[in-house]
Amino acid sequence: MSANPTYLAPGEGETVFAVNSVPIKFGPGALRELGAEAQSLRMKRIALFADPHVLASEPGEMALSSLRGAGLDVAVYDGTRCEPNSDSFEAAATFAREGAFDGFVSLGGGSVMDTAKAANLLSTYPDELIAYINAPIGRAKPIPGKLKPHIACPTTCGTGSETTGVTIVDLKSAGLKTGIASPLLKPSLAIIDPTTTETLPGGVIAATGFDVLTHACESYTARPYTSRSRPVHPSQRPPYQGATPYNDIGAIAAIRLGGRYLARAVRDANDKEARHQLMFASTLAGLAFGSAGVHIPHAMAYSIATLKHEFTAMGYEEREPMVPHGISVVINAPAAFRFTATANPARHLEAAAALGADVTGASPEDAGEILAQAFISLMRETGLPNGIGALGYTETDIPALTEGAYAQQRLLVLAPRSVSKADLEGLYRDALRYW
Ligand SMILES: NC(=O)c1ccc[n+]([C@@H]2O[C@H](COP(=O)([O-])OP(=O)(O)OC[C@H]3O[C@@H](n4cnc5c(N)ncnc54)[C@H](O)[C@@H]3O)[C@@H](O)[C@H]2O)c1
Ligand SMILES: [Fe+2]
Repeated sequence: MSANPTYLAPGEGETVFAVNSVPIKFGPGALRELGAEAQSLRMKRIALFADPHVLASEPGEMALSSLRGAGLDVAVYDGTRCEPNSDSFEAAATFAREGAFDGFVSLGGGSVMDTAKAANLLSTYPDELIAYINAPIGRAKPIPGKLKPHIACPTTCGTGSETTGVTIVDLKSAGLKTGIASPLLKPSLAIIDPTTTETLPGGVIAATGFDVLTHACESYTARPYTSRSRPVHPSQRPPYQGATPYNDIGAIAAIRLGGRYLARAVRDANDKEARHQLMFASTLAGLAFGSAGVHIPHAMAYSIATLKHEFTAMGYEEREPMVPHGISVVINAPAAFRFTATANPARHLEAAAALGADVTGASPEDAGEILAQAFISLMRETGLPNGIGALGYTETDIPALTEGAYAQQRLLVLAPRSVSKADLEGLYRDALRYW
């Protein structure tokens, strides 16, 4: 943890943080243990939500044979949409309801893991999707009780969804990306086998790897947990607590690993060391942001991902045009960190140094620009689009983009500085073009 005076709780400030992490198994070959783990969670009839690319790969075969070898009854669902929407969530929920399963396994990226979480919820406690969606967009109905056991096995080095109590959806009725957040959505176990990353196209590594870096930098720079008031009852402590000394450890380590390995992992599919290390960074960042939270870059990303579908990213050529999640977040990172750095220059400089920037002799006033430039140089090196202008957005889209971001108060409250609509407009303007 960095020496940081903001950790001294003022007056009635919070003094306690909680670590509610999902149990984790990590390492090459971990998927071989899937069947035994499903048995120990007393699963008998399993809904396996799997990414079709992964099902056709060696780790996919390993997972399926491990489940079947343990004598479990497995029904495969491979109809998940990449970046799921409300229709694809409903279709998955119908599959789950009709199958009467007693356990869920997800094997894929954030799209697949999130779909399995939603299918588990909507089949265990049937209701309309909108009932559970976060307020003010949805009705934020509390999840009534425990869900069926779910083992999440990520196959992208990105979202960290295997450790979070969040599921994200493009809600067609609202024309917005939003989600459901509850500790009850957390998987029962995460099995993370980094060999799954070996079949990922370089462009998908770039998009998902930048999701990792942005998660880590946002949780490292989030408002500290001590800046909240102490909850009257422990159950009122928010799931996103703000930066804590525990989350800081994983976040800064993830930034360091991303800085060292992201470009290598994108460039060379045979660079197993780089890809496996990036998968570990993804796990660390997921643990960090899953309880610290994320802020401005993610809040700005939701409208970027929903308002225009004109962009085709490298590695996503076979999909309809859309902005992959990792690109929709990192594209805001340079602008956002320029803005937030004044709230805590030391943390922004530490993050920049962990990313590989030279911070010798840097003054606090330089912190935001140095971190922004560290992101920009890695974005250029890995072929990312040059700002939101390259995704099809222009100055005239800024009011609509801002409305969407401003609605994400759940995330904006974690920013180290308060953020007005005018601030968000300025941030989108800065993000139009970086080089
Ligand atoms: N729940 C959370 O906490 C959380 C956090 C961040 C993002 N998300 C959500 O996750 C989704 C994005 O997930 P993602 O970035 O992991 O990507 P993804 O799941 O959409 O997958 C990206 C692409 O890679 C392919 N793919 C996945 N694994 C592969 C493998 N091993 N080999 C070859 N191809 C493979 C997929 O078919 C797809 O084309 C978005 O909807 C986003 O909003 C959720
Ligand atoms: Fe993310």
